[in-house]
Amino acid sequence: MRMTEAEFPVARPRRLRGTAAMRRMVAGTRLHPAELVLPMFVKEGVTEPQPVTSMPGVFQHTRDSLRKAAHEAAEAGVGGLILFGIPEVKDARGSAGDDPDGIVQKAVADLRADLGDAVVVMTDTCLDEFTDHGHCGVLTAAGEVDNDATLERYASVALAQAAAGSQVVAPSGMMDGQVGAIRAALDANGFSHIPILAYSAKYASAFYGPFREAAECAPQFGDRNAYQQDPAGPVGEALREVRLDLAEGADAVMVKPALAYLDILRQVRDSVDVPVAAYQVSGEYAMVEAAAANGWIDRDRIIMESLIAIRRAGADMILTYWATEVARRLS
Ligand code: PBG
Repeated sequence: MRMTEAEFPVARPRRLRGTAAMRRMVAGTRLHPAELVLPMFVKEGVTEPQPVTSMPGVFQHTRDSLRKAAHEAAEAGVGGLILFGIPEVKDARGSAGDDPDGIVQKAVADLRADLGDAVVVMTDTCLDEFTDHGHCGVLTAAGEVDNDATLERYASVALAQAAAGSQVVAPSGMMDGQVGAIRAALDANGFSHIPILAYSAKYASAFYGPFREAAECAPQFGDRNAYQQDPAGPVGEALREVRLDLAEGADAVMVKPALAYLDILRQVRDSVDVPVAAYQVSGEYAMVEAAAANGWIDRDRIIMESLIAIRRAGADMILTYWATEVARRLS
């Protein structure tokens, strides 16, 4: 016989909310420092860390200050770091991205030498930080991003990163075929053990605004709407991108941004059997910091609540600029 649920006054859901210990015992969603990933910026040719105005508390690091901040993150128990580099010289093809002496490659080598395997050192694999036009790929004569020519560049950037010691490459440019091109290049060059975390469902989002200051990569003309997903696009598009990336060899997939895309995150989580990451992006960070600076919200509670929401929606890993702070608070 099927049991029917008793109604009030027998059913009193409040019984399980009465004390902090009771709530802790029945909590279905927990955060752990190891599932947090800290995005970090390193800038070539600076002697002091440069504060990012629109992201209070975030810096464009020098190689030295990066090492210090990475050490602090590892000590707090953060699971991973993902590096973004700002080179001194940019050009049309983003040459600094795959230069063995490029800033990201140097910084990766620094961090691996310092930290060993204490934390996973990952790299964003894209071209926008390295191109003078700010687009995520190389351009055709008509000024459009050339998908297939860009794939060759991504493969080369991923190889340079892996050769420098990157333990996970994370292609974020939303070119068709990028995961397959990178997988083939890694496998052909002795890096078949290096996983790919694919930014699979990445939307053309205004929430990336502050990042473009942090990484100095705002497109000099146009926008990214022809390669990143339309927020209003077909809902199945995210699942299709994920499926294609997995077929091309992705080891883990990402949804980005996070808070405005929890529905997508849940659908992706339910449709795959690989780890799913969510990126709480620069604009999500900036909004909370700005409102908190005005005394309008309870900063610490909002940070934890938003991370719990992202976790509850299905993220196994969360990329967040608050990773070190939150990891400390959790332990
Ligand atoms: C592209 C990249 C971007 C972000 C991560 N990787 C910028 C973009 O697509 O315009 C945004 C991250 C953030 O906003 O915090 N290399």
